[in-house]
Amino acid sequence: MNKLLVFYGSYRADRMGIRLAHYMVRRFSERGSDVELIDAQAVGLPMLDRMYKEYAPGKAPPAMEALARKIVAAEAFLFVAGEYNWGMQPGLKNLTDHFREEWFWRPAALATYSAGRLAGARASYAWHPTLAEMGMVAVPSTIGVGQVSAALDVEGLPTGSGGEALDKAFDKFAAVLDWWADAAVEQTARKGPPY
Ligand SMILES: Cc1cc2nc3c(=O)[nH]c(=O)nc-3n(C[C@H](O)[C@H](O)[C@H](O)COP(=O)(O)O)c2cc1C
Repeated sequence: MNKLLVFYGSYRADRMGIRLAHYMVRRFSERGSDVELIDAQAVGLPMLDRMYKEYAPGKAPPAMEALARKIVAAEAFLFVAGEYNWGMQPGLKNLTDHFREEWFWRPAALATYSAGRLAGARASYAWHPTLAEMGMVAVPSTIGVGQVSAALDVEGLPTGSGGEALDKAFDKFAAVLDWWADAAVEQTARKGPPY
């Protein structure tokens, strides 16, 4: 049972990507993962001032401390990322920038979405090098959901042809992330991280 954190970072009142985040939480927990949604808006970190590691031990704000512990304990990460002006959503980027070493040595997958047909492909492009720079292994299997409000209902259940395509893509996507999570767990137990 892999410990998976699902990150989502829109702060908009009428946000749509939360549907995909709920879908991912449900599907991964049905597969047997121990999964938790990390909703950046609910966590409510401020605009980046000090990173977690820049606080003296025990002095970070409680929400940051709690999240740092969850990130360190996780075995895999999933970023549910929308696209704003061909780039990343600031709420999700702001949350990730608070941490660094806490992300190391685990795999991360990307599930992007958008209102249009391109499914957040440009946000996926933007996130890949960033996840790698933050010390994660960005896995090669990705999911993209176009016309997100038609593909998922308010509960995150798949609808129409978009929902069908998402369901079809999910199993392989999840299997790849699980495989890398298992690999990281085993290698960490066998050898530990190189530094
Ligand atoms: C500021 C802003 C910029 C956007 N830019 C893009 C874009 O570059 N490409 C795209 O496909 N959709 C774009 N959209 C539409 C989003 O894909 C759509 O609103 C989506 O639901 C946003 O995610 P959220 O609802 O989870 O916040 C943009 C939306 C906003 C609010």
